[in-house]
Amino acid sequence: MNSAFLDACFSKKTSHTPVWYMRQAGRYLPEYRKIKETHKILEIIRAPELAAKVSLQPVDVLGVDAAILFADIMVPLLGIGVDLEIVENIGPVIKNPFTSITDIKKLRNLEPTNDIPYLLETISILKEELRNKVPLIGFSAAPFTLASYLIEGKPTRDFIKTKSLMYSNKEAWDLLMGKLSDLIIIYLKSQIESGVQAIQLFDSWVGALSETDYIQYVLPFTKRIFENLNNSSVPLIHFGTNTAGLLTSFASVPCNVISIDWRISIQKAWKEIGYKKAIQGNLDPVLLLSDFSTIKRHVDEIFESLPTRDGYIFNLGHGVLPTTPVKNLIKLTEYVHSKY
Ligand code: CP3
Repeated sequence: MNSAFLDACFSKKTSHTPVWYMRQAGRYLPEYRKIKETHKILEIIRAPELAAKVSLQPVDVLGVDAAILFADIMVPLLGIGVDLEIVENIGPVIKNPFTSITDIKKLRNLEPTNDIPYLLETISILKEELRNKVPLIGFSAAPFTLASYLIEGKPTRDFIKTKSLMYSNKEAWDLLMGKLSDLIIIYLKSQIESGVQAIQLFDSWVGALSETDYIQYVLPFTKRIFENLNNSSVPLIHFGTNTAGLLTSFASVPCNVISIDWRISIQKAWKEIGYKKAIQGNLDPVLLLSDFSTIKRHVDEIFESLPTRDGYIFNLGHGVLPTTPVKNLIKLTEYVHSKY
């Protein structure tokens, strides 16, 4: 497949700047909201034809350079029987959050063909539908982000329970992070075997840690995941938010692309990451609620500050917001394509 997105991941020259958006399949699209009138998100994920349809919507509507598998970061936990819901306007809510090492010991590994056959089926359908179009990105949450949901039971701002376990019981923490890492490796390998052409690891909340704590409590596990996937031929993207304070360590894992949020400039971030890796980002998603001249000015600023080298993928600093006007994303995609 001839793909500007895949080429940019490997820091190769491209004919245009590739662009895709985190959460590009979702509520800002009327086509998606229509399906949501009759189906809950987990029902869509468990119905391969529907999930594939939702993944394809932004490719057709926006003209992006990659599709992302429609799933959620909780899918592998759902697969092993963790009782959870995804609550509208809140996020994942776990019925029985982990409180002890006994809970952690009960966590079993994933058997993809038995536990998440629907996801592998969605990938097969997408592979066929996207042939000669754009590549398909698979994904997983990283262990810290998954651990935070398992321990807190719901989205949190301050990660008090998660960090308390981390600081007070290293044995339990290492066991949890180790088990989650094994599960994520199996999960991502099954996606690659089914046909995804790139992988993004979402460590959405890891910016809650200091760099020294990141190095001690998280980095060895994330590193292990990338080392285990590194010999597959698909490019690997490492995403986090609020990572400016720990970027050197965050970027030290064996992957191809580092994805950053808007809190640090691409110019500064790339220098810290090192030019051997490609970079993805980093427009503030809130800007997409403005008029197009404001959006354009900020995109221009990004391009003006970019060092002239290969390996840049345009994206937002985090996911598309539900109130984003579709026309802004269509115009933005066109504008980025014209900027090269
Ligand atoms: O288009 C895509 O990016 C693919 C689909 C995707 C979803 N979730 C679907 C979804 C992806 C990549 C995710 C990843 C995800 N889920 C992350 C990592 C990315 C990030 O944003 O940092 C996280 C932290 C989650 C957990 C989660 N799931 C949250 C915080 C929410 C939002 C809750 C809300 O209603 O505001 C969800 C629900 C969710 N996952 C939605 C979608 C489209 C929205 C709710 C719905 O449509 O019912």
